[in-house]
Amino acid sequence: MNTRLIAARVLVRVIQDGQSLNAALDANLPSIELNKDKAFVQALCYGVCRHYYRLDFILNELLDKPIKDIEIKALALSGIYQLSYMRVKPHAAVSETVLATKKKPWAKGLINALLRNYQRDSENLEQKAATSNWVALSHPHWLVQKLEQDWPEHAQNILLENNQQPPMSLRVNLSRISSKQYLQQLTELAINAFAVDYCPSALILEKPVAVELLPGFIDGLASVQDVAAQLAATLLDVQPGQRVLDVCAAPGGKAAHILEHQPQLKELVAVDIDSTRLMRVNDSLQRLNLQATLIAGDAQTPEKWWNGQLFERILIDAPCSALGVIRRHPDIKLLRRADDIEPLQTLQQNILKSIWPLLAPGGLLVYATCSILKQENEQQIEAFLASHADAREVIIEETAWGIKACHGRQIITGTKAMDGFYYAKLVKD
Ligand SMILES: C[S@@+](CC[C@H](N)C(=O)[O-])C[C@H]1O[C@@H](n2cnc3c(N)ncnc32)[C@H](O)[C@@H]1O
Repeated sequence: MNTRLIAARVLVRVIQDGQSLNAALDANLPSIELNKDKAFVQALCYGVCRHYYRLDFILNELLDKPIKDIEIKALALSGIYQLSYMRVKPHAAVSETVLATKKKPWAKGLINALLRNYQRDSENLEQKAATSNWVALSHPHWLVQKLEQDWPEHAQNILLENNQQPPMSLRVNLSRISSKQYLQQLTELAINAFAVDYCPSALILEKPVAVELLPGFIDGLASVQDVAAQLAATLLDVQPGQRVLDVCAAPGGKAAHILEHQPQLKELVAVDIDSTRLMRVNDSLQRLNLQATLIAGDAQTPEKWWNGQLFERILIDAPCSALGVIRRHPDIKLLRRADDIEPLQTLQQNILKSIWPLLAPGGLLVYATCSILKQENEQQIEAFLASHADAREVIIEETAWGIKACHGRQIITGTKAMDGFYYAKLVKD
């Protein structure tokens, strides 16, 4: 099948059905034979999602009335994307995109005319798109407003960073190999990377590579994980012999890191509501040869799965808007709605309240999100502290990363090449 048509069908899943881009690609890429075609479809779909609002604005300028057929609309958007962002020869971008309408002959002339008009008038159209911030930076209007409200000094940078392709970062399994040795192995394979002084397990690659090319990946010498996410294990300060609870644990990056970081735990219990995602925790632990107790359960109702033994350490990596990882998942800009935030806030507060009784006196709880909204972060901790007299915040004394929030610490997307992340530490008196 025409690769542009496959890409359009993937985009329909996201734009019309609200499916995640990853899930839509997973369902469609296996039908493509050649790796270079897979890479093309992937790049096209990521690019259209990343620049959707800008491309859609330009498309509307080119049309008298909107295109109702979403597959044809996706083809039009991806045609403009190829012409404006990709190194595809313009005549191929137009002719191949037109060819992709083969099963809908009525659309052939429309796509052809649209793309040729874009070529003719691109300078003027690009100028028009540059006049409004949310169009120029390709974000939904509500999100721009929210970021400007929460982070007036950083909003513009966050919007720019959200449109960048993030680096590929690795977590070296320090229980098996030193970061220096692993870096040496990468260098021998001509894979350039650099270490991160405030995060001993982290290496950032100069260019992404397929995981199969990473030395010892199959045997668990390294995993792919953003540097910001790797800060959780250190913040949790796990000690030998402790019982640790990781709620909201799937797909298991932080659970695995905690076990690598402290191999002498008494037990790590990893809970997630989604049993399918929990299978990914299992796969990851198997690759890394690590053990944990996995439980499919709702963090809001621990009475249904908890055996009554207290934990000295708890990580709540809460379900959140994921607005800090837009650069990795640009489809979030299309999928997330302004009114998703309040229900998430309620869920996060419920999880905090329900899990708190499982923490032993003197124990430490780390609350984390990959969000940059204050509502999901410092305001959650504020509300929790106000209603829990036995909870006390431990200030994260840190100068190497993040911004001190009124509670906890916020990493702004893109700073020091990291995803947007939030951490707060609470102890039980
Ligand atoms: C941010 S992800 C966790 C990422 C994970 N900690 C890691 O490092 O790989 C949030 C997780 O919360 C889970 N989740 C959502 N609602 C939940 C609930 N009520 N109880 C338990 N887990 C929940 C989701 O299934 C999702 O896997």
